[in-house]
Amino acid sequence: MRTQVAIVGAGPAGLLLGQLLHAHGIDTVILERKDRDYVLARIRAGVLEQGTVGLLEQVGVAERLHRECLVHDGVEMAFGGARHRIDMKQATGGKSVTVYGQTEVTRDLMDARDRLGLKTVFEADDVSLHDFDGTSPKVRYVKDGTTHEIACDFIAGCDGFHGVSRQSVQPAALEIFERTYPFGWLGILSETPPVSPELIYVNHPRGFALCSMRSLTRSRYYVQCKLDDHVDNWSDGKFWDELKRRLDPEAADTIVTGPSIEKSIAPLRSFVAEPMRFGRLFLAGDAAHIVPPTGAKGLNLAASDVHYLSGALAEFYAEKSAAGLDDYSRRALARVWKAERFSWWMTSMLHRFPDTDAFSARIQLAELNYLVGSQAATAAMSENYVGLPY
Ligand code: APR
Ligand code: PHB
Repeated sequence: MRTQVAIVGAGPAGLLLGQLLHAHGIDTVILERKDRDYVLARIRAGVLEQGTVGLLEQVGVAERLHRECLVHDGVEMAFGGARHRIDMKQATGGKSVTVYGQTEVTRDLMDARDRLGLKTVFEADDVSLHDFDGTSPKVRYVKDGTTHEIACDFIAGCDGFHGVSRQSVQPAALEIFERTYPFGWLGILSETPPVSPELIYVNHPRGFALCSMRSLTRSRYYVQCKLDDHVDNWSDGKFWDELKRRLDPEAADTIVTGPSIEKSIAPLRSFVAEPMRFGRLFLAGDAAHIVPPTGAKGLNLAASDVHYLSGALAEFYAEKSAAGLDDYSRRALARVWKAERFSWWMTSMLHRFPDTDAFSARIQLAELNYLVGSQAATAAMSENYVGLPY
């Protein structure tokens, strides 16, 4: 088999890249380790930057999004028992964020790819990357016991943090930057109306909490928990009680609780692998970087990576210029690091760390009071949250 770009991974990065390249007339094959239902069952974040929505519109995959999404002009920060609204739309001259689950984005992209008859191999086992230091890279995989080989011009490693692509690079060629956080997020999904029309980020002595949503009837809540905690330790009732203890009195009194339809604990990590290009292999999305979910940047960084990469590949095929490809890593990393900083800043400001002493707790409150009390601080936070320009 032959294709122009072999994409490893059918998550948001791989699927969006496939659609963007198709729009430029570039042929792709996507290899995905799991089956379709497994990929679609993943519960992930749900806040889209305007740039991400724009890319989905560009590839004609935003119809259901615009029917079902919620548009948020602001977000609330809760601390000291009170809530403070950040008017992001006012602070950014009219920008907002779109609330629409990553699961739905993935489903829409997968359906669009199927409608176009573009090839996606699910349950592709033992994917391996070859000869990407030369000009004729190959990808091999096993399907139903048979080994297949795809000859291609380029490989896009969109296979996430645990994928094979980054692991295929000589360790000496990679520089890793990493910060792991000493806590996790216990999250639940419930068919209950959100406690508030917008998201609420909570700094509380007992730990961070977040009130989010997927729709007006489906809510997503998180509480900070110990890294070694286990979801079996948390009955629904225990979760709701702990969440209410961290919310302001009004939210605690009005929140509608109900049975969880999903419950899980996720660790938090900041991670960047540099560079993002190795000959004919390009990394994009979680394969190259991870952000703590506090800034809601993971999916949006995957989108900006593939925006840059698809443009560079289109330039190569249309104008025979490799300039965009040669500049991809620098350009993508410039935006990645700004999102890493913002995500680290939000995480540092809102969570209880084991070494959070009285001084650092006051510094957090001073940071939060400055944020909600200063137009400049509000504008800085807002422009990062709605998404910095590409
Ligand atoms: N071979 C083939 N596919 C693989 C392999 C492999 N060896 N390893 C992983 N994959 C697949 C995974 O099954 C997954 O479907 O690659 C896909 C990677 O998707 P994501 O992990 O979602 O990463 P990405 O597309 O970059 O999207 C980033 O997803 O994880 C969230 O928080 C993250 O919101 C961010 C977004
Ligand atoms: C979510 O809705 O899952 C969500 C929203 C905002 C975040 C993280 C997660 O910062």
